[in-house]
Amino acid sequence: MNYEDMISERAKIIKPSGIRKFFDLASQMEGVISLGVGEPDFTTPWAIREAAIYSIEKGKTFYTANRGLLELREEICQYYQRRFQVSYNPETECIVTVGGSEGIDIALRALVNPGDEVIVLDPGYVAYAPGVELSGGVAVPITLRHEDQFKLTPELLKEAISPKTKAIILNYPSNPTGGFMTKQDYEKIVPIIKEAGIAVISDEIYAELSYGDEFCSIASFDEIKDQCIVISGFSKAFAMTGWRLGYILSNEIFSKMMTKIHQYIIMSAPSAAQYGALEGLRRCQDEVENMRDSYMTRRNFCVKAFNDMGLETFMPQGAFYVFPCIKSTGLTSDEFCEKLLDDQRVACVPGTAFGPAGEGFIRVSYAYSIEELKVATEKIKQFVEKLSKG
Ligand SMILES: Cc1ncc(COP(=O)(O)O)c(C=O)c1O
Repeated sequence: MNYEDMISERAKIIKPSGIRKFFDLASQMEGVISLGVGEPDFTTPWAIREAAIYSIEKGKTFYTANRGLLELREEICQYYQRRFQVSYNPETECIVTVGGSEGIDIALRALVNPGDEVIVLDPGYVAYAPGVELSGGVAVPITLRHEDQFKLTPELLKEAISPKTKAIILNYPSNPTGGFMTKQDYEKIVPIIKEAGIAVISDEIYAELSYGDEFCSIASFDEIKDQCIVISGFSKAFAMTGWRLGYILSNEIFSKMMTKIHQYIIMSAPSAAQYGALEGLRRCQDEVENMRDSYMTRRNFCVKAFNDMGLETFMPQGAFYVFPCIKSTGLTSDEFCEKLLDDQRVACVPGTAFGPAGEGFIRVSYAYSIEELKVATEKIKQFVEKLSKG
């Protein structure tokens, strides 16, 4: 039997993640220091863990409502209102999901017809284009520019919109660049989105990890709020990657459709994780802020370290990544990362894992302790010095 022939065209078409490919290589070596992983190095705050354990002890081990515990949805909506001034109805406009990942998937499935175009940013998070393709759509990339600090500009947006455009996926603060959109940046693109009448899937999973200007949700613009689907979750800000918990905020019509899909494919997000997250939203804001302060110190350290070694690196305003430009070394992103791994046993991710526009850059995660960052950047410095000596 030829099992390859059994595979669907859609599954065949999507490419394996460039991050995975690189880490498979790194995992075969001993003593590798990784700056590659996109997850907090902090353990989930104790109050969250305790609440989840308590829920299990109390026997709260059943499915919850499809959309998630109402108490949690109420807390999520209050949180978005309090922190980012956007209001949603917990009963009809909020769904608790299995991570932001599920949110991205069901938002696309709810919106995309075969052949619809969905604009994605390049460089951008690895799951977007495959998500578009799996839902039958066509991913249309916008090539962002280093000189704009990878912001979306009105010119680039206008060029990418066609009569077939159904939606755009935004992600600020950005993985992989750390790029950020201020309120003023959004003011320039909001009228274009309104006029085009396209949906905006706004992945705001790094919202809490904003270091300079206040984070601005694109859904806070009343004139396009109903066009927006906000995706967020607990993985990054609350250090809860393994718990698999996220949420979607959107207008009632979108929310109803996504709930329908969610009911069939998931039923409801994990109960213990929901009880933990509820506690997190109620009582862990201080810890979230402490983690943010710590990331900011690490960001400052990394930006200085890379610029000092001659790799131009802009100051990212959010997330926990820096995106140094390695063009001065004459190597491609892949070559740089492979040789660095070989020579110094330090793993970073080639910018090209996030799209062709990532060529000439590497993604460095600073979700590591300052001590680890010191050792790793010293090794990268030695590598760059060796390269410059030929
Ligand atoms: C931009 C972005 N969106 C979504 C996710 C997925 O998050 P979750 O763990 O909530 O599924 C990630 C994880 O790295 C991410 O970087």
